[in-house]
Amino acid sequence: MKILIVGSGGREHAIAWSVSKSPKAEKIYCAPGNAGIAEFAECVPIGAMEFDALAAFAAEKEIDLTIIGMDDPLVGGIVDVFEEKGLRVFGPRKNAAILEGSKAFSKDLMKKYHIPTAAYENFDDPEKALEYLRTQARFPIVLKADGLALGKGVLICNSLEEAEAGVREIMQDKKFGTAGDRMVIEEFMTGREVSVLTFVDGKTIRPMTSAQDHKRALDGDKGLNTGGMGTFSPSPFYTDEIDRFCREKIFQPTVDAMAAEGRPFKGIIFFGLMLTEDGPKVLEYNARFGDPEAQVVLPRMKTDILEVMEACVDGTLDKVDLQFEDNAAVCVVLASDGYPVKYEKNIPMYGFENFAGKDGYYCFHAGTKFLDGQIVTNGGRVVGITAKGKDLKEARANAYKATEWIQFANKYMRHDIGKAIDEA
Ligand code: AMP
Ligand code: GLY
Repeated sequence: MKILIVGSGGREHAIAWSVSKSPKAEKIYCAPGNAGIAEFAECVPIGAMEFDALAAFAAEKEIDLTIIGMDDPLVGGIVDVFEEKGLRVFGPRKNAAILEGSKAFSKDLMKKYHIPTAAYENFDDPEKALEYLRTQARFPIVLKADGLALGKGVLICNSLEEAEAGVREIMQDKKFGTAGDRMVIEEFMTGREVSVLTFVDGKTIRPMTSAQDHKRALDGDKGLNTGGMGTFSPSPFYTDEIDRFCREKIFQPTVDAMAAEGRPFKGIIFFGLMLTEDGPKVLEYNARFGDPEAQVVLPRMKTDILEVMEACVDGTLDKVDLQFEDNAAVCVVLASDGYPVKYEKNIPMYGFENFAGKDGYYCFHAGTKFLDGQIVTNGGRVVGITAKGKDLKEARANAYKATEWIQFANKYMRHDIGKAIDEA
């Protein structure tokens, strides 16, 4: 098969690596890709939002399957454009990607189909939102911009004053652009967070092994929200009992709800869950793999990724037995110092050769590029260092050991990725 992957981050590197292991893969292209993906895929300089150019490329190269890694093109309808042209593509159509694209939509869906989530109200008028806040006695309270906001559109407000300022930021100052035309105000929940990524074919859902992200920039979950500073898989807190509950009360009901709404979902549903005292509840849905969740889940997947993805497209996922290794993986993100606010780029990087021939160790590129033949930094999150181990402790020790192998002048990382394991 000839495969095209759309995206340029660590997630797309992990997807491309996984595809490259498939005996079905003959040639891999990635648009636009990055310096790491270029090792086993041909990178083509077409942006992820250039739907017509991407479809024309897929037609010209006779691509057998295009895999969309990122949320923006999915929410923007890239799958519809490919399907109209008769091209095979992995990912939800626009009318299903709305599960991630509109938080107001996803909250209303959960309410209508009794899927456990935080209590909430939707608003499209800032005055109504402010009025509502003044009737609320319990803080913190959570404000969410309705649309895509690079994972930054969620504000946890500790007082009425903070929440009022948050409404103004989101709905009036448009800090997150049109994502803030509408917003959700919801109850603050407490508990452990866990991510479960799943394959879906419109009817059948096959959950992958669980993972946990670390979204804050600094050790001890302090500092600003980021795209994710590290992950581990599996989550020791995601027990068999919780898994059974989620399959029965959250996963399948979500797939059934989307089908009932005339929005059958094919692709990846990423369930962001909180394990509260009252049971697991949905924090958010994403319509794609997580980044850096993919970097710990895919290295542990035994089943051929192309076999599963084709089954999702064809509606035959019920025939697939999805298998994962009985081990663990940890990913530590090496970022540019100053991320997510201000940081330098184009810094030369060294040490990639240290990963050659080391089984169970991976350096997934997120923000890198070639400059005069040398790999340099090209983003806030630069690479994700993943290592496997027989258990989480071993995987964590291996991952931190491997973080030493890559050098660049403004390298920054968290030192407590997977620390929660010690409490399990
Ligand atoms: P989201 O983009 O919806 O995943 O939100 C980003 C982060 O905000 C989540 O990973 C949680 O840590 C936090 N968060 C979102 N919603 C809530 C909530 N209702 N209660 C507590 N924390 C939340
Ligand atoms: N790591 C969180 C996300 O991909 O949304």
